[in-house]
Amino acid sequence: MGVVLGSGLGAWGDTLDGLVKVPYEAIPGMPQPAVHGHPGNLCVGQVGGVSVACLQGRVHLYEGHAVEKAVFGVRLLARLGCRAVLLTNAAGGINASFSPGDLMLITDHLNLAGVNPLVGPNDAALGTRFPDMTYAHDPRLLELARAAAAAAGVKLQQGVYAAMLGPSYETPAEIRMLQVLGADAVGMSTVPEIIALRHMGVPAAAVSCITNLAAGLTAAELNHAEVEETARRSRAQFVELLSTWVRRVGAAAEGW
Ligand code: 6GU
Repeated sequence: MGVVLGSGLGAWGDTLDGLVKVPYEAIPGMPQPAVHGHPGNLCVGQVGGVSVACLQGRVHLYEGHAVEKAVFGVRLLARLGCRAVLLTNAAGGINASFSPGDLMLITDHLNLAGVNPLVGPNDAALGTRFPDMTYAHDPRLLELARAAAAAAGVKLQQGVYAAMLGPSYETPAEIRMLQVLGADAVGMSTVPEIIALRHMGVPAAAVSCITNLAAGLTAAELNHAEVEETARRSRAQFVELLSTWVRRVGAAAEGW
């Protein structure tokens, strides 16, 4: 199993049984996340007997990395033999029924980041030129996430995630546009990784922590400190869901 840890969840990587940590700087070609207290690490170990390779720290397009660099880590997970990859992130809520602190299963996405990791000559060793995106968010993984949430007693919203380039948050007009387009949440990651994994035929799915409501939905201004604070407050339920999901996917994916 592969896992990509987003904002506030990095510590999960340190809880793996038999943990082996490889700093990103020791991995040729691996981009370094912007210094933010913690350097990036590939964490390898087990959860409930399931072998896990986990990216602790990811790079974002808004840091100025080329999109191939932004998906280097998930391609590495695929090459390490991960049979499924679960991703996490922090996102702004657009759906009026969401509250800060909610977790949202991403059932589909809008790629509005302006880039696609598959632009350029196609590497046929990775996948096909024109990969299908009907099941970009693997239906089996989505069902296992719903079952894991029910078993763990964690409330799980679901919806469509819109990926923006960032790093500025959206304007209220942009959020009204995203509402019209069918987005339930908005963020600055995950979609390039989902596309790269779909290209390689690796089942993938993602959960967002809704850390705040998007611009214009409340009078409040947005700030990264609030995002981090809400991510911190919902970390316990996020970790519970992630651990339960990983165990269930690990058991199911043996047959994939
Ligand atoms: Cl409101 N927008 C974007 N693009 N990313 C976010 C967010 C909003 N809240 C958390 N991450």
